[in-house]
Amino acid sequence: MPDRKTALITGASSGIGLELARIFARENHHLVLVARSADKLRQLAAELEKAHGTRSLILAVDLTEPGASAYVLDQTTRADVTVDVLVNNAGFGQYGPFAQSDLEECLRQIQLNVTTLTHLTRLYLPGMIERGSGRVLNVASTAAFQAGPLMAVYYATKAYVLHFSEAIANELQGSGVTVTCLCPGPTTTEFHKRANMMNSRLLQFGSMDARTVAEDGYRALMSGKPVVISGFKNWLLAQSVRFSPRQMVTAVARKLQETRSQ
Ligand SMILES: NC(=O)c1ccc[n+]([C@@H]2O[C@H](COP(=O)([O-])OP(=O)(O)OC[C@H]3O[C@@H](n4cnc5c(N)ncnc54)[C@H](OP(=O)(O)O)[C@@H]3O)[C@@H](O)[C@H]2O)c1
Repeated sequence: MPDRKTALITGASSGIGLELARIFARENHHLVLVARSADKLRQLAAELEKAHGTRSLILAVDLTEPGASAYVLDQTTRADVTVDVLVNNAGFGQYGPFAQSDLEECLRQIQLNVTTLTHLTRLYLPGMIERGSGRVLNVASTAAFQAGPLMAVYYATKAYVLHFSEAIANELQGSGVTVTCLCPGPTTTEFHKRANMMNSRLLQFGSMDARTVAEDGYRALMSGKPVVISGFKNWLLAQSVRFSPRQMVTAVARKLQETRSQ
């Protein structure tokens, strides 16, 4: 794939990742599409080849498996694909009190949202640094800015993504490699259904559409901005918690996370 840059996108089969794939294809990139749903990835690859002549390497892999990141690197190396842009987007949440949560699901959440994101970044950064160019987009959330009762693990994983991204963005200054952290607020995707939180009060205040969020992320990535919060209302909320007592912020987050009947 010599004529265009290549973007590797995790979680490209649905929601924000799928819209990012469409944007990267429109903007003249070839793609490495990663998720578990091979059929959806194949369908997307066909759509983008037809629309933009995009070439896609499809990697159907469960990124909660400990060997997954090494497998992804191995597959891109074998296919002789240089990853110019790494998009760590795949992630999921789990709704409910922590003490009653499914432990295996909690650990898988940390594995995907934190460990795999860190692992893939560590594997692809050296090549980018050596080439003196590259971009990393890590998808966190506005959940990163405060604790989140009833989604304690998810909020904590996103705080990690934000702080990790900001730290390495700083370390990489002057290297030609930029790191951007995208923080969406509630967005209409499969996320809330999968997290079993369709009745959460949070969703009463409206959701953004995945395309708008993805466009915000793409623009920030291309301008090398370290952090972008998608949507003015979300930006305002994220700022407001900085000047409020932490316990109060946590109590408000709890109210928002509760179901409408609570
Ligand atoms: N929607 C929101 O309100 C919202 C708000 C803030 C942040 N975010 C973040 O945005 C990112 C994208 O989520 P989304 O809203 O677009 O949700 P989504 O529609 O559920 O998409 C999640 C993507 O991640 C992939 N994925 C999930 N588990 C995986 C696994 N074990 N291995 C490989 N891929 C896996 C899914 O593909 P397969 O099922 O095919 O594997 C899918 O492509 C996540 O990091 C999420 O935390 C979402």
